[in-house]
Amino acid sequence: MPTLLHIDSSVFPAAGSASRAVTAAFRKEWEAQHPNGRVVYRDLHADPLPHLAFDGASAGFIGPDERTPEQQAAFALREELAGELEQADAVLIGAPMYNFTIPSGLKAWLDHVIINGRTFGTENPTAAGTPVVVVASRGGGYGPGTPRESFEFVTTYLEKVLNGGLGLEVEFIVPELTLARSVPAMADLVPLADASRENAHAAAVAKAKSLATRFAA
Ligand SMILES: Cc1cc2nc3c(=O)[nH]c(=O)nc-3n(C[C@H](O)[C@H](O)[C@H](O)COP(=O)(O)O)c2cc1C
Repeated sequence: MPTLLHIDSSVFPAAGSASRAVTAAFRKEWEAQHPNGRVVYRDLHADPLPHLAFDGASAGFIGPDERTPEQQAAFALREELAGELEQADAVLIGAPMYNFTIPSGLKAWLDHVIINGRTFGTENPTAAGTPVVVVASRGGGYGPGTPRESFEFVTTYLEKVLNGGLGLEVEFIVPELTLARSVPAMADLVPLADASRENAHAAAVAKAKSLATRFAA
């Protein structure tokens, strides 16, 4: 049975998070399709990873026998996280926009799992081809032709790092204008925001279903 690696990174709990609501809709459908499947869950806000630091980073550039005990310990976490990615049949990531880019907790995860010569930087990165669905919620609008289009560093960055770097097959679901109900200046955008949220939920369910056909039990 397939394994889903589910990652959330919003600083908000489930009840107040646009991205968590959509990843939950995906996961619910995924679990309905794979009742005996496995889900590995990482909540990068509730259980944050340490930032990648000297020992973990430098350990990636030397052989296992050359590592100090500190480097071995730091690299063990990177191997655990890379292993979770490599063993996943599909990946689901909640990636809200904070200050035009991804949450720092998600960046820390990426810094750990991107291991040169293994998951990255080889002709055959170890997780290449794995489908990944990214829920990129954002308070404003950054679509093509909008004034803030060039400020968008969530999908543009993740496309490069997940696909261009790790070789994953990336698809984005984007619930946007999520601040429309709480920011008075955005009141006119509430209908668009509601439509975007509904489309995102429908897309999450449809994607979980369509991916399931790849992993028939
Ligand atoms: C620290 C912080 C920074 C934010 N920065 C932006 C931003 O640069 N652009 C934007 O459109 N929305 C921004 N927002 C709004 C969030 O993108 C929006 O509320 C989104 O729905 C968050 O998803 P979440 O509820 O799953 O965390 C920010 C929110 C927070 C908490």
